[in-house]
Amino acid sequence: MTTRRLVLTRSAAIVGAASTGLLLPQIVRAQSGKVRVGFMLPYTGTYAQLGVAIENGVRMAIDEKGGKLGGREIEWFKVDDESEPSKGVENANKLVQRDKVDVIIGTVHSGVQMGIQKVARDSGVLSLIPNAGVLAATGALCAPNVFRTSFTNSQPTLALGKAMVDRGHKKAVWITWNYSAGAEAFAGFKESYTKAGGTIVKELAVPFPSVEFQALLTEIASIKPDAVACFFAGGGAAKFIRDYAAAGLKGKIPLYGSGFLTEGVLDAAGPAADGIVTTMHYSDSLDTPRNKQFRTAYASQFKMQPDVYAVQGYDTGLLLTMGAAAVKGDLNNKKALYAAMEGATIDSPRGKWKMSKSHNPIQDMYLRVVENKENKVIGVAAKALADSGAGCKMG
Ligand code: BEZ
Repeated sequence: MTTRRLVLTRSAAIVGAASTGLLLPQIVRAQSGKVRVGFMLPYTGTYAQLGVAIENGVRMAIDEKGGKLGGREIEWFKVDDESEPSKGVENANKLVQRDKVDVIIGTVHSGVQMGIQKVARDSGVLSLIPNAGVLAATGALCAPNVFRTSFTNSQPTLALGKAMVDRGHKKAVWITWNYSAGAEAFAGFKESYTKAGGTIVKELAVPFPSVEFQALLTEIASIKPDAVACFFAGGGAAKFIRDYAAAGLKGKIPLYGSGFLTEGVLDAAGPAADGIVTTMHYSDSLDTPRNKQFRTAYASQFKMQPDVYAVQGYDTGLLLTMGAAAVKGDLNNKKALYAAMEGATIDSPRGKWKMSKSHNPIQDMYLRVVENKENKVIGVAAKALADSGAGCKMG
């Protein structure tokens, strides 16, 4: 006989309606037996590697804290979201309605995140975002049960524009994938670059997840800007870096990006990546005991080097263990759970950070350059950067 059941109470419905603005009954899970934790991540497609790194990081953090949540054992569930926005709601409901998870950890792609956000707001299930930077999740559609441990899409690029102008590049072309993450990364870049005196001479885009860059690289060569700035990630980023060099642009037109461009892809990109400058809330080379200890432990456990996605997963695991410990495993004690998570200081490999009011990390942005398959820190591009949280009302 199962010890798990759904309990729909009138008071829970009222709490939920107040918190999300919707008059829908909220799900309250019985708090005995195992905590049910669901991963909704891409395990196939251009972001597959990112999903694996996030899951590794989450599991590693929880294992380091004894492998339990607030004293309770864990039962794991997994859904491959394929980075497919049209299946976002359906996939999130596989975890929430079918598997009856207590917490959903996902995802990578901003468009898919919007599906999770809807399900999280409607059900009240705890939602931890280990990557997707879509602003609405901690902006207009923020919710008390949604916490992000990564970034908003404009955070890295808000730190990029001034760094490029400071390095003498006043005319830039922007290129990205044509979806919300690219558009929001561009918004951050535009704000910081134009404010610092730069001019964006052309915006270019390819549909997600296309890697047909050739025509646009030919166009860049003919425009001859001072520099190129971009948002790409995962397998597509490695291909973009290689194609950029193959098109003869490397060494002629400096390539910049939000740091996802060079995360987890340096083996695949090879020497074509050398010299690329990016802004990011993490760097392999952060010279702190915390980062070194994390990197050694991760490499020894997973036989691969960690990247920013592994760090974000790790921090998600830390946040969850801290929240669960504060309520002794009773994740239904939502007020105390959310308060603990809001007040937590995450002792991350990226440096210690806390949540903003809208539940997004307040964090430093590092300026990095690729050298010999490593993202080396060359400065701090922005200190304690918070997202705007525009339109967020927690209720
Ligand atoms: C996003 O879709 O939000 C995203 C995907 C990969 C890296 C960074 C952001």
